[in-house]
Amino acid sequence: MDIEFVRSRFIKHHDGTTGSVYASPGRINLIGEHTDYNGGFVFPGAVDKGMIIEIKPNGTDLVKAYSIDLKDYVEFGLNEEDAPRASWARYIFGVCREMIKRGVEVKGFNTAFAGDVPLGAGMSSSAALESAYAYALNDLFGDNKIDKFELAKVGQATEHNYIGVKCGIMDQFASVFGKEGSLMRLDCRSLEYQYFPFKPEGYRLVLVDSVVKHELASSAYNKRRQSCENAVAAIAKKHEGVEFLRDCTLEMLAEVKEEISAEDYMRAEYVIEEIQRVLDVCDALEKGDYETVGQKMYETHHGMSKKYEVSCEELDFLNDVAFDCGVTGSRVMGGGFGGCTINLVKNELYETFITTAKERFKEKFGRSPKVYDVVISDGSRKLL
Ligand code: GLA
Repeated sequence: MDIEFVRSRFIKHHDGTTGSVYASPGRINLIGEHTDYNGGFVFPGAVDKGMIIEIKPNGTDLVKAYSIDLKDYVEFGLNEEDAPRASWARYIFGVCREMIKRGVEVKGFNTAFAGDVPLGAGMSSSAALESAYAYALNDLFGDNKIDKFELAKVGQATEHNYIGVKCGIMDQFASVFGKEGSLMRLDCRSLEYQYFPFKPEGYRLVLVDSVVKHELASSAYNKRRQSCENAVAAIAKKHEGVEFLRDCTLEMLAEVKEEISAEDYMRAEYVIEEIQRVLDVCDALEKGDYETVGQKMYETHHGMSKKYEVSCEELDFLNDVAFDCGVTGSRVMGGGFGGCTINLVKNELYETFITTAKERFKEKFGRSPKVYDVVISDGSRKLL
């Protein structure tokens, strides 16, 4: 990402002066998908791609924002009724409002931003944007009084209240808390987390982007969440203290089979199994057992495709190609409905896999997938 480029655009589209510059990354997730809003575990890490924003208070009550990538300029006020129409600007507006709700006296500012985390690839470009602004506003207007978890929650609340996606906390957490070379296991119920240095000897992590744009905001994501809540409500009638699917076993789910729809049952089954898979992967990683890690990744793909139904033809195809090539682990990453597969590949297989995946994908779908090597990097920070 190019700081100088952002700076030059900030100067050009505002009053010629410079401001402060902040960055926040996108993320990968090794395993633990759709578990965050079920109180389960996730295993993300921040990447070396994300958003860079430049920002400077302007002494007015207006935010003057320029999206460098979209070449679009929008101005908006900071009251609830001032929500801008452009969806990219709503993210910034939402973050301002959520910071104000937490007692930060946000005033007008000039800003410009750009990103290199691919949009809609399941790498959380929106969380990167939210975290960058939450971090910056805390620094510029809040004396850094809001703690890092609350900053992540500001991004999540922005999604809930201003975008309409009832997401979990994983993406914003990863963007704010990322650490170079480490994945993080987060318990989304207690919010306890642990850094796991991740340097698999002899393996590489690579993302293959189907370039199918996922529409997370489409009701499909919220519908999955509703299914999980339906299953929990039925189980909670029989078992005291059950709050999330995290608190449920497959046996408990079986007890309510007749009371919930077949679809809700299948969704909940996937989640309960997936929560266990994260723990199994952590154990395997501690033993350096990458074969088990990989096997669990394939199991996740199968669950996301057949039970949670958030995969698509292109992603299933990429997963099959990985399997045929002997790739250790592969699965759809993030919310699904498009985006990337994440692949754990032995060094010696890397070239063959990438070439084969590109060729076969092109043959079938008439276009090339994109390939991103994963570099695990730091979270939100001030650059200048
Ligand atoms: C999206 C959401 C996250 C999480 C993942 C699926 O990225 O924003 O909260 O639910 O999907 O694991």
